[in-house]
Amino acid sequence: MAADRRTPRTAARTAVVWDVLRVTLAEQASQVGALQILDIGGGTGGFAVPLAELGYRVTVVDPSPDSLAALERRAAESGAAALIQGLQGDAVGVVDLVGADSVDAVICHSVLEVVDDPADALGAIAGVLRAGGVASILAANRVGATIAWVSAGRLAEARELIASADGTLAAGDPLRRRFTLSGLRDLIAAAGLTPRSSHGVRVFADHAPQSLLDIDPQALDDLIALEHAAAEDPAYVAVASSLHVLADNR
Ligand SMILES: C[S@@+](CC[C@H](N)C(=O)[O-])C[C@H]1O[C@@H](n2cnc3c(N)ncnc32)[C@H](O)[C@@H]1O
Repeated sequence: MAADRRTPRTAARTAVVWDVLRVTLAEQASQVGALQILDIGGGTGGFAVPLAELGYRVTVVDPSPDSLAALERRAAESGAAALIQGLQGDAVGVVDLVGADSVDAVICHSVLEVVDDPADALGAIAGVLRAGGVASILAANRVGATIAWVSAGRLAEARELIASADGTLAAGDPLRRRFTLSGLRDLIAAAGLTPRSSHGVRVFADHAPQSLLDIDPQALDDLIALEHAAAEDPAYVAVASSLHVLADNR
């Protein structure tokens, strides 16, 4: 098993997604047997490698050769390299790359913000999923992003984000768009998938002081418990940094 590269804060940020994924994939595997997972925009393997370590076969499609090289190194270190395949490509091209109706689960985390057209990317996800397959979609929350810009002292950007029709900023912005939960669920449904549960991710994880995480060994467990307590409460989901939606291909 590779060394755990996650800092306490990263572990808190991803705890809800991981717990939802572990349960969902185990349910899928109990129904269909060995799962084939496609991680679109899987980058350096932050999800793909731990999933392979759990015994799942994972294909990562990503346009970045540097990320794919890092994925290969990380996979080799993990001892689960035989279960991981990296392919260079774009989200909208995944049907051509891996085949229609060919995978049991798709992971698309922090990618819809940067693709040319999220509707096309979601259409491709629907195209590669077998009937009964599941998609795990994670995307930036527009409200959470606005709060983050304020916390960073970027008040003009926060105002611009509130006024923007699609969660974009004009300049100096690493993301092309952010989502509301209803907007994201509508996009997923328009692609022919059925949105299931929704979760707020990173409701508190970005706000706990680093000094607390550094000195109190209990703080990480407490922070993860807080993330779980808030993840399905609409009032807290509204201010989360990211939105997670599970969707079925029925
Ligand atoms: C913020 S990273 C997320 C990485 C990983 N999914 C995660 O959650 O840790 C965004 C990833 O999307 C990839 N990406 C950018 N444009 C893409 C596209 N059009 N199709 C698929 N992936 C893309 C980038 O190369 C990068 O690896």
